[in-house]
Amino acid sequence: MKYFRKMIGPKCYLSPISLDDTERYTEWVNDMEIGQFMLFSATVFDLDREREALQKLMKDTVSFAIVENDTNKAVGNSGLFGISEIHRHAEFGCFIGDKSYWNRGFGTEATALTLDYGFNVLNLKNIFLHVVEYNRRAIRCYEKVGFKLVGKHRKYIFMAGEYHDILIYDILASEFESPYVNKLFAQSTSEDAGRGKISIEP
Ligand SMILES: CC(C)(COP(=O)(O)OP(=O)(O)OC[C@H]1O[C@@H](n2cnc3c(N)ncnc32)[C@H](O)[C@@H]1OP(=O)(O)O)[C@@H](O)C(=O)NCCC(=O)NCCS
Repeated sequence: MKYFRKMIGPKCYLSPISLDDTERYTEWVNDMEIGQFMLFSATVFDLDREREALQKLMKDTVSFAIVENDTNKAVGNSGLFGISEIHRHAEFGCFIGDKSYWNRGFGTEATALTLDYGFNVLNLKNIFLHVVEYNRRAIRCYEKVGFKLVGKHRKYIFMAGEYHDILIYDILASEFESPYVNKLFAQSTSEDAGRGKISIEP
């Protein structure tokens, strides 16, 4: 068993990352069709470097493989970085590495599941992200989940011979509707109450 169902949606689930996928990740992070949208595109990853990067991700961040329900195939990665224990904020990042899965709703669903984990399990208050201004697909995906534009870094990254702005989006816990954790909790507690395991006195 390579993947484990941590957060489950209709199309995909979030699982711990498997180092068995290092080769697949190495292919994804070197693919400039993906890299043109990512800040890591200026780094050249061989297998060893990518394995180290994944190990660091697994140790220092809350990162998941995005796995298709029907096939148990990993199609990408999502995570929360720089979690502040004091201020309860974190940065979100994600990519669908398997390009045949773009525009099929996986990014939106994985984003919502990661935010659900951040807000309703890790008790975060604010989750923010950075996205390059020309990444229209990602912007649409993030706005669908409820992220709001709060600012930008002007002429912040260099790509294809030009400088581009980076947009800053964020979302508060109070603005987010849980697609999984809260429903699961409500369902299991009401089942327990029905069986008399839980009695809540007025
Ligand atoms: C960005 C990414 C995570 C989005 O995931 P996805 O599964 O492809 O996206 P979804 O299908 O959930 O949603 C995409 C939305 O953008 C829309 N879209 C696609 N191309 C678009 C464009 N050029 N302009 C505007 N909207 C566009 C789609 O129609 C869809 O909206 P809809 O559901 O209202 O029709 C994924 O495409 C990806 O990883 N891309 C490469 C790396 C990357 O950009 N990572 C994010 C870095 S911030």
